[in-house]
Amino acid sequence: MGNEKMADGLRKGLASYGDAGFSLFLRKAFIKAMGYSDDALNRPIVGITNTFSDYNPCHGNVPQIIEAVKRGVMLSGAMPMVFPTISIAESFSHPTSMYLRNLMAMDTEEMIRAQPMDSVIVIGGCDKTLPAQIMAALSADLPTVVIPVGPMVVGHHKGEVLGACTDCRRLWGKYRAGEIDEVEIEAVNGRLAPSVGTCMVMGTASTMACITETLGLSLPMSATIPAPHAERFRSAEASGRVAAAMAKAKGPRPSEFLTAASFRNAQVVLQAIGGSTNGLIHLTAIANRTKHRIDLEGFDKLGREVPVLIDLKPSGEHYMEHFHHAGGVPKLMAQLGDLIDLDARTIEGKTLRDVVAGAEDVPGQDAIRPRTNPIKPEGAMAVLHGNLAPRGAVIKHSAASPKLLQHTGRAVVFESVEDMTARVDDPELDVNADDVLVLRNAGPKGAPGMPEAGYLPIPRKLARAGIKDMVRISDARMSGTAFGTIVLHITPESAVGGPLALVRNGDMIRLDVAKRSIDLLVDAAELDKRRAALPAPTTPDWAKRGYAHLFNETILQADEGCDFDFMRGEGK
Ligand code: FES
Repeated sequence: MGNEKMADGLRKGLASYGDAGFSLFLRKAFIKAMGYSDDALNRPIVGITNTFSDYNPCHGNVPQIIEAVKRGVMLSGAMPMVFPTISIAESFSHPTSMYLRNLMAMDTEEMIRAQPMDSVIVIGGCDKTLPAQIMAALSADLPTVVIPVGPMVVGHHKGEVLGACTDCRRLWGKYRAGEIDEVEIEAVNGRLAPSVGTCMVMGTASTMACITETLGLSLPMSATIPAPHAERFRSAEASGRVAAAMAKAKGPRPSEFLTAASFRNAQVVLQAIGGSTNGLIHLTAIANRTKHRIDLEGFDKLGREVPVLIDLKPSGEHYMEHFHHAGGVPKLMAQLGDLIDLDARTIEGKTLRDVVAGAEDVPGQDAIRPRTNPIKPEGAMAVLHGNLAPRGAVIKHSAASPKLLQHTGRAVVFESVEDMTARVDDPELDVNADDVLVLRNAGPKGAPGMPEAGYLPIPRKLARAGIKDMVRISDARMSGTAFGTIVLHITPESAVGGPLALVRNGDMIRLDVAKRSIDLLVDAAELDKRRAALPAPTTPDWAKRGYAHLFNETILQADEGCDFDFMRGEGK
């Protein structure tokens, strides 16, 4: 084992046949079937993940990225070797993409470990893929370069700029309210995603790409270059060169340059971009693969100091390509000034000070604001606590209605996503605009996989009366592309007996974002009585076998990143 650890290139991690010389002989005999020369096989190896899939349009440019990466690796004298891992696309992942994130992380980690490579390039982008790949890379702790696939370019409809998927929801809402007809919604359907690449608003994919760049795991500007642009492929070629240099130098490994400051910077950027609430769960899971931690109180505290500077939907107006043309993440970090620790390092061995020094100045741009003129004076997200959320809940208040941030209303409870779907549009539903819509059994275990169902639709009869927003609370997640006064990730979730399970129709619920509180206004004795009457937990039918069983037995709550308990850095 000791010798294997020291070995490199093709000699790394030999399959065990009890005779190392024979193992290498056999490996070379087989790989030569691909037509490689001894010269090629003696080079340092850069592994490259391939997550192209006909089911994943967000990753539609992956073959072209891989070609560019291989060019960069070979121009630098190393050997690129592409290998497949699973791919996860949001709209093709039943029951949810979150259910599969940890599977992708395990698959990617084990394939990085199992196959000989001196460095690895992971290429991803659709919401869960970058988190899964980074979790894997940090656990394998091999020198790693991350390449986001890049955002789509914007769409146009009747003179309006459209973006997936903030405008998907907005226009679907208009269609539900009867403001646009069948013919128009079909036309919109063909224009929302006009190219390959990830959603071009500040959804989870863009959020995670910005976090990746801030952590120094990808090259400067790589978060924002649009997926179809030539620059995307030049950046991929450059990433190949960096990965080849890392393969030769045997570093830096993620553990060698990621510090507490790197993770603090990532949280600052998450707040300043008006990032997705999912980003907090993923960043927590990523940190937990290392010795670093994301602490919810600390994150909330940062939120009070860090302004939202990026004017992107759903918090603002622009789209990712505008953020890119305005100078991207380096320019954002420059504008954040002393809120960013510039001593943090990147895969290239540079400091963020070097990165910020290279930021482009774009006169007249208004996508990246200065601190003197922020979009919002506080960060995107706040962490709430209270008797409804003893271990926390999250609200993206930058994308909420200011008048609902302090609100007390009557609970209208839905037992599950199915119950909500069946009843929310019922004309007989006893609901009015001041009520609080409550969805439960939609957490990590409950649904399972914590669906993005937290964006409960406004009941049709209220939508038709012009109501655009209501307070909605759940143990679910929400798409980073959504807008509304929506409390998410209530922890512990109702399926494990969290207080959300105790809410009854007609109870009063008080949300006070300024005080960071969410409370059920029912006295403690009554809540104890209700708790005692909850049914004992059992293993649900869906969790009797296979991956579902592993998931149900080991999934952690949102405050711990929804990783499996045995996958954290320190193990179980
Ligand atoms: Fe893939 Fe939005 S659906 S990034």
